Amino acid sequence: MSSAIVDANGRYIEVADERGSRDPFRGRLLVLGLLFVLTLPMTFLMVLAAKPKPPESPFLEVAQRLGVPAYRIHGGRAVFLSSCALCHGENGEGKIGLGKPLRNSAFVQEHTDEELFSVISRGRMPNDPENTTGQLMPARGAQALSDQALWDVILYLRAMQDPTQPTTSLDDWIVRTEQEGGAQQQAGLVGESTGIGHDLFVASCSACHGPNGEGMPGLGKPLKTSAFVANLSDDELIAFVKQGRPIWDPNNTTGVDMPPKGGNPALSDEQLMEIVRYLRSIHE
Ligand code: HEC
Ligand code: HEC
Repeated sequence: MSSAIVDANGRYIEVADERGSRDPFRGRLLVLGLLFVLTLPMTFLMVLAAKPKPPESPFLEVAQRLGVPAYRIHGGRAVFLSSCALCHGENGEGKIGLGKPLRNSAFVQEHTDEELFSVISRGRMPNDPENTTGQLMPARGAQALSDQALWDVILYLRAMQDPTQPTTSLDDWIVRTEQEGGAQQQAGLVGESTGIGHDLFVASCSACHGPNGEGMPGLGKPLKTSAFVANLSDDELIAFVKQGRPIWDPNNTTGVDMPPKGGNPALSDEQLMEIVRYLRSIHE
């Protein structure tokens, strides 16, 4: 658009009006803007297409069979690697003298989740009538594993079972464990001189107080150096362990729960006495 005005000399001059003068520029802007708007989703789509797909979970099939999301089996595998593989082998193949094979295990296949939970949470003491080898299976793998972690690890044990394969024979494991013996002792997992007291301690107390009573930050106090332990008689110490020291107890010093009998109600007075003997033997 343009308009004409008359200058001082009476001549007409063409003057481009404001809007008209910007037109071509605006047009270019519009094209650029349009290009941008069009290419944006294209670029986005291209980035999406170029992004590597996450690898497919190897547990999808078994997760479907068990009716659980695959991430729980992955979680169970992480628990297994950190808390069970030491004795049972990275792939559940078992380690002579340390932990039985759990891959294609008749025991795992013949027991329900609840039964497996019970074995894993209570452990299996060497003198337990169900123990087959005289080796210790520590409660919760001697770690402070939550119930949820145990349910997940059970899913992972299920994922290790291949129903088309025969179950693994334990004869070789049991015979060689008896012959070679002491692998747990050599690995420092169970005590030699202190025997049953240390085994019981590992099974029921070490998850919080550490495998040798050295304490674990945020979980359980050191018992090796505890003046409280030193100042109590054996009977008083047993009475204390039976009762525990809940968070709301005015004597509680850490704000963390010491559960009655360490959370293992099956411990008898005789077994607690063995634990107390062990505590005496390690006290500095
Ligand atoms: C310190 C070594 C050790 C650790 C750690 C350990 N276990 Fe064990 N576990 C054993 C031993 C030894 C046995 C066999 C006990 C026996 O002779 O009956 C066993 C037995 C078992 C059994 C019964 C198998 C059968 O055939 O009788 C299951 C299930 C099991 N463990 C699961 C686990 C899980 C899950 C973890 C980790 C949370 C774990 N264990 C951590 C040593 C260990
Ligand atoms: C779930 C974790 C946990 C387990 C399992 C556990 N304890 Fe404790 N224990 C604690 C905590 C936490 C304290 C400190 C409580 C406080 O703040 O006073 C404690 C305190 C103690 C004390 C007092 C120490 C002191 O200096 O005041 C003794 C003794 C003790 N435990 C023995 C045992 C024995 C023996 C077992 C096994 C039968 C056991 N505990 C199992 C968490 C645990």
